[in-house]
Amino acid sequence: MVKYIINTEHKKSKINREIYGHFSEHLGRCIYGGMYVGENSDIPNTNGMRNDVVEALREIRVPVLRWPGGCFADEYHWKDGIGPKESRKKMVNTNWGGVVEDNSFGTHEFMELCRQIGCKTYINGNVGSGSVQEMSEWIEYMTFGGTSPMAELRRANGQDEPWKVDYFGVGNENWGCGGNMTPEYYGNLYRRYQTFLKDYRKDFSDPDKENPDRMRKIACGANVDDYEWTDGVLKTLFRHCEGRFHGNADGLSLHYYVHPEGWQIKGSATEFDEKAWYKTLAKALYIETLIERHAAIMDQYDPEKKIGMIVDEWGTWYTVEPGTHPGFLYQQNTMRDALVAGISLNIFNKHSDRVKMANIAQIVNVLQSVILTEGPKMLKTPTWHVFNMYKHHQDATLVDSYIETETIGEEEEYLVPNLTESASIDPDGKLQITVTNLSATQSYPVETLITGRKVEKFSAEILCEEMHAKNTFDEPDAVKTKAFDGVEKVHGGLKFEIPACSVVHITVE
Ligand code: AHR
Repeated sequence: MVKYIINTEHKKSKINREIYGHFSEHLGRCIYGGMYVGENSDIPNTNGMRNDVVEALREIRVPVLRWPGGCFADEYHWKDGIGPKESRKKMVNTNWGGVVEDNSFGTHEFMELCRQIGCKTYINGNVGSGSVQEMSEWIEYMTFGGTSPMAELRRANGQDEPWKVDYFGVGNENWGCGGNMTPEYYGNLYRRYQTFLKDYRKDFSDPDKENPDRMRKIACGANVDDYEWTDGVLKTLFRHCEGRFHGNADGLSLHYYVHPEGWQIKGSATEFDEKAWYKTLAKALYIETLIERHAAIMDQYDPEKKIGMIVDEWGTWYTVEPGTHPGFLYQQNTMRDALVAGISLNIFNKHSDRVKMANIAQIVNVLQSVILTEGPKMLKTPTWHVFNMYKHHQDATLVDSYIETETIGEEEEYLVPNLTESASIDPDGKLQITVTNLSATQSYPVETLITGRKVEKFSAEILCEEMHAKNTFDEPDAVKTKAFDGVEKVHGGLKFEIPACSVVHITVE
């Protein structure tokens, strides 16, 4: 019997709802066709946004959406994407397939999409091929309510009221596609660019008065285990500032993708054996090591944890589906992806003292998507179902918990614990528990000891199918969450047998 202890009296960090965030890029069919079809499409839409997709995203309570990239962000010039659509500039999307980008989805459309989804806005600016003036004017365009050249331009384009930009990223992957910079060079550029990202919602007549709801600025962080980048950027940000700088970076990003067979070969999304199953899950678990090591560096500069770790690109990255455009990164999604999502989100919850946002890549039709579309058809992937179960952790308080595990797997190098979990008290006072069983074949009996509260009423749901199971446009509900009636009340807690290859969510009222 596996012992699982949850101490509801030991409350830890708040699980920011932004941990359940998403990423969208002008890449393949993520924006065009996936979320945006234009007002004249036969596909039912509101102001050009697909109704079916928006509804599915609202259901999982998408808290924040990052846009326009990715690598695309450092080639994007925002003025090309405003004004009458017929006169918007066309450009080549050099990063993603060399296709023509007609800029019909720009700032106004992104803000409309976020309004419909009901989520916060996270815009990623262009450092690599842009200028300080361009970035600074974008903020003025979007957020200034008074009279100024950019605010007037926005009004001329039909938007009277300023929008709210919740988060702004200063460049993307500036160690690579965003300019191949060194950490020190980027750190200095960050200092300069962010100086001119004014808070237009602030009371300028009182310079010392803080606006608690100001736009949060995010610096470009490391790729995977590039600790030198984290250290080099932070050293530069904190140098020669005598405390003035602190607070001018609210976040530092981290990117990590799981490629089962490595960056070159990647591996199929749907055809894999048990070895590849465990290898993928072991690689997904590695994000915990990355978080801990990058956090240890951040602690040296920022012991009060004022700068959030923003994992704004994470997820699986396989070889594209056979017959699809290699530059569009379209991949299927199976129970293996559901496990990757469940494991990763449990880890983010457990590290929510430092991890303040995470954005799975990418929301629709690209990499580990929650939604896939084909013309007018749409399906919810197994990953969508995990986000739907885990949404109850949003803005909850993490509580202390511990589950006994054993090591399983096929290869010495890729052994994994059989179970992962996290537990929280949600804003309504309910205890939310999520558990993943990483074994492809074996179920385990679990006995939960819950201290600090009585178990009266509870409910449970489960996502559980064979490891290759997936949803297709012919069978869109092959994998879906079901009620889990195997949970019973015992003295001090709950007891259940967790099936192989499953993700479980329990609510205790
Ligand atoms: O998500 C696909 C790409 O992966 C992004 O454009 C880039 O930031 C990362 O390398």
